[in-house]
Amino acid sequence: MIGNPVTDALMSRKSIRKYRVEQPSDEEVDTVVRAGQQAPFAMQMGSVLLSRDSVRNVFRAPLQFVICADVHRMEKVMERRGWKRAASDLYTLLFAVQDAAYMAQNMVTAAESLGMGSCYIGAAPFMAGRIRGEYNLPDRVLPLVILTMGYPAEDPPVRPRYPMEFHLFEDSYPEMGDDAVDRAMNVMDEGYLDQDYYRRANYMIQLPKDMEEKYDLDSYSWSEHISRKLGLWGRDPEELIRVLELCGFHICPGNEVE
Ligand SMILES: Cc1cc2nc3c(=O)[nH]c(=O)nc-3n(C[C@H](O)[C@H](O)[C@H](O)COP(=O)(O)O)c2cc1C
Repeated sequence: MIGNPVTDALMSRKSIRKYRVEQPSDEEVDTVVRAGQQAPFAMQMGSVLLSRDSVRNVFRAPLQFVICADVHRMEKVMERRGWKRAASDLYTLLFAVQDAAYMAQNMVTAAESLGMGSCYIGAAPFMAGRIRGEYNLPDRVLPLVILTMGYPAEDPPVRPRYPMEFHLFEDSYPEMGDDAVDRAMNVMDEGYLDQDYYRRANYMIQLPKDMEEKYDLDSYSWSEHISRKLGLWGRDPEELIRVLELCGFHICPGNEVE
């Protein structure tokens, strides 16, 4: 792989969950947010909320951003142009989520280049009620993900990724035999075990009572952890539909456009 300051920064980034107390300067915050804004966009439908209240922020981070998929602001621009949105909420959200995500990741990389660290927190949509109240959010602004940021007070190792053969499929998508899947899982699981990841975190996702626990902190690793997340959580689609409704997005058939 070709090394240069940009690829080196990308390859050495890791999520940071412990922060020094110093507040980054206004200029650093501006730089991060501006670099985020400069990401590719479909319709500039990502916006950013900021809290510098480290006592309340996740991980007591000096900076906490909430990255929003913001259709409200787009509608304001359309209104000034004399347009009303005809595109459905689902169609519009698909682009808004991408705009917000690419923007957020530019912020992560910019922070890294300034010696800061960061970590996403995926629970934001499920905290939408609270966030809407705190920030006075209008309808059609979806809190997509939280991004904590600040100077790192830890230096964890870079986490493993799937091998390239399991990631890049040139010209056609391969049939995934058990061997290929096992090889990829092994890279991830051995990588996390070598780093003592779950032992250090002292965390395994608990199984329901009717399922037998076959792992302990010496053997539990990434592929089991991630499988448990999607095997146990998020079963009820209504939960997310309710969040979207709360935020003013109506994605169910027959209910798309207000
Ligand atoms: C959408 C999203 C949600 C995430 N949510 C959480 C979270 O709730 N808590 C957490 O500690 N890390 C969270 N992370 C960070 C991931 O755990 C982390 O990026 C992943 O384990 C890979 O590690 P690395 O970032 O150090 O390479 C999230 C990352 C993403 C992209």
